[in-house]
Amino acid sequence: MSEKTISQAAEIIQNNQDYTLFSWSKQKNSNPIAVKYAKGVYLYDYDEKRYLDFSSGLMNVNIGHGNQRITEAVTRQMQEVAYVTPSCVTKVRGDLGKKLAEICPGDLNKAFFTLCGATSIDNAIKLARLYTGKHKIVTRYQSYHGASIGAISASGDPRRIPVDAQQAPNFVHFDLPYLYRWEYGEENLLKETVAQFERMIAYEGPGTIAAILLEGESGSSGCFQYPKGYLQKVREICDKHGILLIMDEVMSGFGRTGNWFGFQNHDIVPDMIAMAKGLTSGYLPFGCLMVSDKIASKFDDAILPLGLTYSAHPVCCAAALETLKIYEDDGLIENAARMGKYVEEKVELLKQKHPSIGNFRTAGLLGCIELVKNRTTKEPMAPFNAKPDEMVVMNKVAAKIRELGMYTFVRWGYIFIAPPLCVTKEQIDEGLAIISQAIAIADEHVN
Ligand SMILES: Cc1ncc(COP(=O)(O)O)c(C=O)c1O
Repeated sequence: MSEKTISQAAEIIQNNQDYTLFSWSKQKNSNPIAVKYAKGVYLYDYDEKRYLDFSSGLMNVNIGHGNQRITEAVTRQMQEVAYVTPSCVTKVRGDLGKKLAEICPGDLNKAFFTLCGATSIDNAIKLARLYTGKHKIVTRYQSYHGASIGAISASGDPRRIPVDAQQAPNFVHFDLPYLYRWEYGEENLLKETVAQFERMIAYEGPGTIAAILLEGESGSSGCFQYPKGYLQKVREICDKHGILLIMDEVMSGFGRTGNWFGFQNHDIVPDMIAMAKGLTSGYLPFGCLMVSDKIASKFDDAILPLGLTYSAHPVCCAAALETLKIYEDDGLIENAARMGKYVEEKVELLKQKHPSIGNFRTAGLLGCIELVKNRTTKEPMAPFNAKPDEMVVMNKVAAKIRELGMYTFVRWGYIFIAPPLCVTKEQIDEGLAIISQAIAIADEHVN
């Protein structure tokens, strides 16, 4: 490594630290990786150190990094026309809407294009209220839906707590236990959670609830799988009470769980789908709210009071259309299903070696390992919403992961495994070998 590269990397990091703010972190002592370039499942820094990206960025770079088909599609579109107002149309906007209607089940045929996950969620919330004339939005505590005022109020995740005083009204959260920490027998889980859900609806008053908003498969809260059959029951209850069902597919969508959308693992059809992330695989910021014909038709003769300057941005539409083609051409969704199974088999073997692995949950390639101090008591290696002093062991695990050349999302006692969908068995082996070495640190704290 030459002095030149050292000073270049140091200067880049310094400029970022001096002149930009970092999300969800203390600003002092941040230790970011300065990424020079990225290819496939790997990131490379200025020292040519390679990092295996085991969380696909923020679980969004589904097609992998550096795919030049997107660069070419975006460049072509920019050369033709980079921007039109949302009241003009482009070929690519119509083509993308048509493609999404083909992918989505049922009568989910109308796309309202947004900028990201949070703007998809905010618009879903507005539209649900407009359509039903009701006001409450019900979500799960163990959920994250974005950081705008609307989306963070919808989120049950503790990321909302520091801004709780600013929360928007008419959001209700409910608990949905997960199997690993449910003490009353697997056979009772569905029955009890559905009964709990029905009681919550009755207490809130079904006549006040516009929509239930749920992640297609749980993501950053901890990949908490739905009890088998749960979403079908929720669908039935929604239909009974005239409540809309909105699926947040921002993280679980676009092949991540081995299907186009996470809810397809549960055999239901929602009324709206919030999308972002994998829609463009993060190559450009973009999102979409997919709406049923039934909901859209309410606005045939009434004004749709939603709008964004950058709705249906032509360049983002071009990136999205090409991304969807790549999923199909490269068989990435099938690969995600196959590799998800492979990860499960391999983590099963790791469990025999590492007493600190309490549980592994995954849907396709959206999974996480939960570390515990004791398998019998299930005492977590770091508790829910851990304070800094409760993260000492996990911080060491995370530091080891990075030192060994992996980038992934480590939160509380969870290590996420969500590589790009183009990942190979060899790359999974490489990643799990790194995780295994890092988990050895946690094993020493098992009691
Ligand atoms: C399930 C889910 N919904 C919504 C969002 C918000 O997306 P964005 O950060 O693009 O606003 C996220 C982001 O992680 C997410 O995981």
